[in-house]
Order: sequence, then structure tokens, then C-alpha cells
Amino acid sequence: VTAFILDRSLERVTRVVRSAMQGVAGDAADRGLGIPDVSGKLLRPMVAWALLPSALRSRPDPIFSAGALAIQMAHEASLLHDDILDDADRRRGEPTLRTCEGAGAALVVGDRYLTSAYVVAGDTGSSEFVGAFARAVERTVAGEMRQGSTRGQVLSEDAYASIIRDKSGALFGAAAVLASVVGASPVPLELGLRIGSLYQRIDDLLDYCVEIEQDKPPLQDWRQRKWTFPLGVAGVTDWTLDESDVLARLRSGPVPALLSAVGTLEARAAAIVADASHSLDDVEMLAGILDCWCRAARQGVEEELTRVGFSGSTTPMDQAS
Ligand code: FPP
Ligand code: MG
Repeated sequence: VTAFILDRSLERVTRVVRSAMQGVAGDAADRGLGIPDVSGKLLRPMVAWALLPSALRSRPDPIFSAGALAIQMAHEASLLHDDILDDADRRRGEPTLRTCEGAGAALVVGDRYLTSAYVVAGDTGSSEFVGAFARAVERTVAGEMRQGSTRGQVLSEDAYASIIRDKSGALFGAAAVLASVVGASPVPLELGLRIGSLYQRIDDLLDYCVEIEQDKPPLQDWRQRKWTFPLGVAGVTDWTLDESDVLARLRSGPVPALLSAVGTLEARAAAIVADASHSLDDVEMLAGILDCWCRAARQGVEEELTRVGFSGSTTPMDQAS
């Protein structure tokens, strides 16, 4: 997703969570495990933190930090493997390991992070977390495989939603279980799955914003024939269109499909926050994170439309009238 601006309080919390995870990472590396840099945006650890009871959100405890690190490591492993599958040259604004050192190196480094992640997950001492984590990794891979086997097909909304729920939702689901275990109060797994799916939808929408500056190349999903929801919103029904025609469909109309798609994401975020308020004692931090993601999506789309000369209104209020 395009660089999104965290507000100050989220930035401060990210620093606290990162530093606690770095502490656990240092210990794990000293024990000979394969540990990635604790870089990236740490979205899954941050969501786990936001799902904790607010009274526990002062300093991450060692169980939280180990669980969060395990989830982040599985995510890093999945990206290394994903870049092999997608022939991707750039991620987070840098050349991928696949490009620099080849697929074999990227494969085995990903394997190492993943196998070490299970050891770190075990360090939580929670069989509930370890079970949920193992299942989440299994679901991540299953989702990726389903995506691979449906390449080149036009998917129903349900089929697409089910793929991203596994591929991208599952590790956020593990973050919800971590919060349950550490907070000793139930957080629905479903909440994590919906949060992760929302994130993937934003990623998939911004893949069709080709004019804005992003930290990875756009249009990869179209080129690899991966069906994602913006195509459905734009009324695309097969893969025979040229890239320029697809982009034109996404950008045209009194309300361009890109903008309608952002609206659906904002509605999903609002529904997640409303439902989360029944199970969390304090939903503010989660609301702040989702708001930040949705603002990145809206800003990306608005900038894209401005650059291609869209002259209509981009505000939801004007569109409704
Ligand atoms: C990014 O999707 C990729 C994922 C969310 C999961 C990828 C999973 C695998 C490659 C299976 C192996 C998994 C493990 C845990 C080792 P994307 O390609 O839509 O996003 P991108 O634009 O960031 O590449
Ligand atoms: Mg990819």
C-alpha cells in the first residue's frame, strides 16, 4: 500500500511495539534463529496491540512481543515467497531478494524465517496461540494456492473474498487470538479476518492507481491475471480488454469505479469498528488504524484521478446529491 501517514499517536505506539519486538528478536537471534529486521509497518502487531484491553496497552509484555514477532516473521516469509511467485522486482521501495540473489536464496531465507517463527511462537508458552498461529500460516498458504489456481478466471465476489480472507486475513486472525490470550478476554477471530481482508482490498485497489508514487509497481494483478474486487466494481467481465481500456473503465463515469470502490472500503471499515465496539473495551486505536488505511486509499485514488484529468467531484457528499 502507498506510504500512509500515521498520526502522531500511532507513530509513537509503533515505536513502542517495534522496540519490544526488537528486544525479543535480539534474544532469538542469539539463540541461533533466523530473524528478519523488525522493519516494515508492523500492521499485524499493531492490530494485535489495538485489540488488547486498553489497560494492558502501556508496555508490551514478553508473551505479546514473542507472538507479535512470530506473526511478523511469517508475514516476512510469505512476502519473500510471494515475490518469487509474482516475479516481483520491487517491494517497500527496494529491490526484492529474488532480484538481488535469486529465487533459491529468497526461498530458503523465507523458509528459515517461517521455521524460526514457529519456535518464537512456542516462546509464548500458549498452546492456544501456537495452534492458532499454525492454522493461520496454513490458511495463508492455502489462500495463495487458491489464488494461483484461479488465475485467469473471473471470480465472484464470494470467491475473491474467501481467497483474501485466507491469504491476507489469516495472520491478522492470529493477531486477534494473540490479543485474546494476552488480554485474557475473548477477541473474535472473525474480527482479525475482516481487518486483514480490508487491508488486502486496499492493496488491490491501489494496484490500479498507476499514476501515483508507490513503493511497488502497479498493475501487477492485471498483468498476472489475478482477479480482484475493483474489476467487479468497474463491470469488467473478462480478461480480453487492453490495460488502457481497463484503466479507462475504472476512471470513467460520473462516479468512477475507483471512487465507488473506496466508498465500499470506508463502509467496511465503519462496519468493522461498529462490530468491534461490542467486543473491545476501547475501539479508538483500531478505529484510528483503519481510518489511516482508508485515508491512504482515498488520497491515492483522488490523486490518481486528478492526474488523469478527472474533473468531477471526488467527495462522497457531492456524489450522493
Ligand atoms: C501478498 O499478496 C501475499 C500474501 C498476503 C500471502 C502470500 C503467501 C504465500 C506466497 C504462501 C507462502 C506463505 C508463507 C507463510 C511462507 P499480493 O501479491 O496481492 O500483494 P503484493 O502486492 O504486496 O505482492
Ligand atoms: Mg505479490
